Amino acid sequence: MCGIVGYVGQRKVGDVLLKGLSRLEYRGYDSTGVAYFKGAHIEVKKSEGKLRNIEEMVKRDPSADRLQCGIGHTRWATHGRPTTQNAHPHRTNHIVLVHNGIIENFESIRADMIKLGHSPASETDSELFGFLVLEEEKKGTDFPTSVQNAFRHLEGACSVVVMSEKQPGLIVGVRNGSPLVVALDPQGGAVFASDAQPLLEYTREVFFLEHGDMAIGSEKGITFRDIRTGKEVKREKTLLDWSADKLDKQGFPHYMLKEIFEQPLTMVDTLNGLLDRARTDPFPMAQQPGLAILEKAEEIIFIACGTSWHAALLGKYWLERWAGIPVSVELASEFRYRDPVVRRGTVIIGISQSGETADTLAAVNDMRRRGIPTMAICNVRGSTMSREVDATFFTSAGPEVGVAATKTFYAQMLAVFIMAGYLGLRRGRDTASKIPHIFQQLLKVPHMLESQLQQDGKFVKQIKEVAKRVVAQKGFFFVGRGYSFPISLEGALKLKEIAYVHAEGYAAGELKHGPIAMLDEDMAVVVLAPKDGWHEKTVSNLQEVKARGARIIGIGNPDDDKMKRFSDEFIPLPMPVGGESLDESLYPFLLAPAIQLLSYEIALLKGTDIDQPKNLAKSVTVE
Ligand code: M6R
Repeated sequence: MCGIVGYVGQRKVGDVLLKGLSRLEYRGYDSTGVAYFKGAHIEVKKSEGKLRNIEEMVKRDPSADRLQCGIGHTRWATHGRPTTQNAHPHRTNHIVLVHNGIIENFESIRADMIKLGHSPASETDSELFGFLVLEEEKKGTDFPTSVQNAFRHLEGACSVVVMSEKQPGLIVGVRNGSPLVVALDPQGGAVFASDAQPLLEYTREVFFLEHGDMAIGSEKGITFRDIRTGKEVKREKTLLDWSADKLDKQGFPHYMLKEIFEQPLTMVDTLNGLLDRARTDPFPMAQQPGLAILEKAEEIIFIACGTSWHAALLGKYWLERWAGIPVSVELASEFRYRDPVVRRGTVIIGISQSGETADTLAAVNDMRRRGIPTMAICNVRGSTMSREVDATFFTSAGPEVGVAATKTFYAQMLAVFIMAGYLGLRRGRDTASKIPHIFQQLLKVPHMLESQLQQDGKFVKQIKEVAKRVVAQKGFFFVGRGYSFPISLEGALKLKEIAYVHAEGYAAGELKHGPIAMLDEDMAVVVLAPKDGWHEKTVSNLQEVKARGARIIGIGNPDDDKMKRFSDEFIPLPMPVGGESLDESLYPFLLAPAIQLLSYEIALLKGTDIDQPKNLAKSVTVE
């Protein structure tokens, strides 16, 4: 859940660390710190709060050494409060380290270290690793080997990156579970980070460490060891298709807004990645790994968390309708601790944009160990999940920096939509006969949306105006039926996480089974009712809401006079110019930007920290 960066080479280490950490703040931002060599001494600068709290300190005190070497960290607190004392890097005598993940046996290690005469200065599990290294050094091993042996004492998923004042110019990183990526600096030296984003500044060729790998970086380059055997190993490079310019805000006030606006491009890139656009029939699916597994599926279980779980729910609607396959959608954190009964012929599909979410990884892995075929839908090449499952459908949203998932959700919806379309046609079901036509319409959606997703465009301006009029409502319900139900859940999640307003997503038909009791003029109900097969039913639910005096924000087709009449506020969906109708299965791709922008505009009015909402982190690598 934390961000790690490390550098050894000729560039100014302070600059490399600060820039790297700014790319990683999405992973956690309770406290930040760096450590770098000044002569034979390692200088540590850290503070609670965000990166800006240490920026000046680091800039005012650069290292003038010929060889520049240092490590940095941005923390999302698990063990110990978010204080300066608990911030990383942690120093223990001549050992300085940063850590990501959890040391599960930290209590017993702590007790042992105290017995041996060590005095922890922080409340963290991380600091204990330094004592373990010192203890190993007493046995006469060199610095990397002491780190290797110390790491063998740890239980739990984590990675550490360590320096020693006795070995200037050397950085040792070990991974078991929590991700760690390294790359050669083309100017000489090595860069370490807990994900690939900071490395893109320097190169697109990176090495993803395997579980149990150690990387030793120096100005000469990087060597790898397997910590179980202690032997040197070779690791293959991965060439990333992300360019550094994708990482900047490009003039947008927030990454979230930029990423919402990037959704048409995400759609094009993901379609290009998953489909063979040169083919037209029977279905232009590109040769994805995993097609053979999918084709044999008698049942599918999706496993995911948060927004990815909402994408999975949509998958259930599309797959059941078109392919006639039974689909269950499981919350990873529940599934992994249940005793799930999984029938023969079932395929498990983990959905995770990061591919590093601890619960999803563990749940999918449990199934893999039971011999069940596993697949992933993932946005990060080289991520742990994509390397552990039998096959991955990669989405092509590019790096998503805003903590709130937007374009990655969009890409996930598209991936499950494509799976459903493909399987529907392969199985020759009646309900699938319209699929080729629907896919022709799908190809138009990015163009249509791109023209609407402009800062000064009508669609965006209308939502901005609605947001101003509803921002003071005490609470929000997002309701919908059919395909609009998962989008309602997603709308409520977005509003909660970035605007800190209480919101609930509900199946519209469920309102009268309890929540209707809460409705009055202080509440707003966002009714997602495009003209689909559920439209009439949703509109009658809307009337139940109206009778209770709640403020209604309708989202629907621009020509829906009924919806306009019953709604206090109305957001017309972007539609093809010329009045061509769209198949109902495509509405989620139009509804998603509407609920994202509504949440964004409300958060903007509330003045919250939209890209880095409080208490959250982008990649949840702890349970
Ligand atoms: O990386 P993942 O897709 O596995 O992440 C799962 C959730 O943590 C994530 O979708 C979260 O709910 C979103 N950041 C919410 O916007």
